[in-house]
Amino acid sequence: MSIARSEYTYCAPTIPTKLRVVRDGDAVRTAAPGELPAVVGAGLRVPTLTGEVEYANLDHAASTPSLVSVKAAVDTALQTYSSVHRGNGYASRVTSAWYEQARVEVGRFVGAREDDLVVFTRNTTDSTNLLARSLPRGTEVFVFETEHHSTLLPWQQARGVQVTTLPVPSSIEHALEDLASALAASVASHRLVVVAGASNVTGELWPLADVVAVAQRHRARVLVDAAQLAPHRAIDLAASGIDYVAFSGHKLYAPFGAGVLAGRRDWLDSSAPYLRGGGATARVSTDGVAWATGAARHEGGSPNVIGAIAVAAACASISAHREAIEAHEASLAERLRSGLDVIPGVDTWSIFGDDHDRVAVLAFTIERFDSSLVSAILSAEHGIGVRDGKFCAHILVDELLEDPWGDTPATAVRVSLGLANTAEHVDRLVAAVAELAANGPARRYTRTDEGWVADGDERDLSLPLPW
Ligand code: ALA
Repeated sequence: MSIARSEYTYCAPTIPTKLRVVRDGDAVRTAAPGELPAVVGAGLRVPTLTGEVEYANLDHAASTPSLVSVKAAVDTALQTYSSVHRGNGYASRVTSAWYEQARVEVGRFVGAREDDLVVFTRNTTDSTNLLARSLPRGTEVFVFETEHHSTLLPWQQARGVQVTTLPVPSSIEHALEDLASALAASVASHRLVVVAGASNVTGELWPLADVVAVAQRHRARVLVDAAQLAPHRAIDLAASGIDYVAFSGHKLYAPFGAGVLAGRRDWLDSSAPYLRGGGATARVSTDGVAWATGAARHEGGSPNVIGAIAVAAACASISAHREAIEAHEASLAERLRSGLDVIPGVDTWSIFGDDHDRVAVLAFTIERFDSSLVSAILSAEHGIGVRDGKFCAHILVDELLEDPWGDTPATAVRVSLGLANTAEHVDRLVAAVAELAANGPARRYTRTDEGWVADGDERDLSLPLPW
């Protein structure tokens, strides 16, 4: 007996007799309930200009480390690693069953409806591109200019799709009004509103319930880019009325190359397969091809089963520790904000106002400092990792930082917190920024092709290859 593959949905797939997948609730916990799941690489020591410190990874919004529980799941899955839906050997059956159970776990994590599809992709960008290619002809997409390029751009090349971009709003009320007017003016046969759950620049949360209410009044569907939401807050498709959600494993403590698009199946079942080839077909003859329906239609080629298992393990661990994670992040975020807020010359940036609810992501600038120099100094002098620039959200950052000082580029420094962080990391960042804003860097820095380099930086940054 083989595992049914052509129609796999959020509903439990067929598992061969005797091969039972047993859920062991405790297996996903790396910590007691109420404690935080551990990350791989905690305590990493990194070289600075003057010695060595514990790495302060304040860049979770770009990519998170792996959870220990995710690495353990991957290690276990590798013991029986084999093909998915392409073999009848024992290891292949185990791997296939785990792949399908990963889909079920992810469906549970996003509160999928009974008939929703969970498609494994490469990342959020892949997921938004998949949905863009699956839109029915005559769809109008509504998207704010606040969005990450992966949420803003995929629609523009989609055939038979019209895109309406809405300006960076000055308030939530304006955003909802702009959206409602644009939807009211639309004569399209299908409508899709695309919005981030949380901004990757400012961490601010979009009021998803309000967006869904406006969309539903105008018979529009809603896609939430949850790349920055899924690691921090719960998502419930069924309860919220959100139609689609996209997110990445590598921002969810599962950096093994898988992402997710979950949501309504009709558009996905009716569109051309994302990749034409093996696995996406129901039947092929000299007369033609019948493409599979369900997730398989868009998962052509051998799937990234290890990546999917990693995402599922992360979903299970995060769900099991949700309260502790939210409390940890809220306390660090508050510490960060109150620390930065009182430093003269430091500005933090927001779309909807300083008091707007946000996840633990924050963008700031230091007056007259190039943000790339700030991040180089934080790394070289303090062992702190942050991201600087426009964060693949150029329109938003240009709008927020309309008038930088002199020829300083309109870029910011972003701090994004998560499970790899302690209060000491935040305190170190705040102290470093205060020192920099008041007295400048400890060394002279020169801009080179490889970025800013400190005078007299004699660190040996060579490392043996990991293979
Ligand atoms: N999209 C990721 C970020 O915001 C890479 O940093």
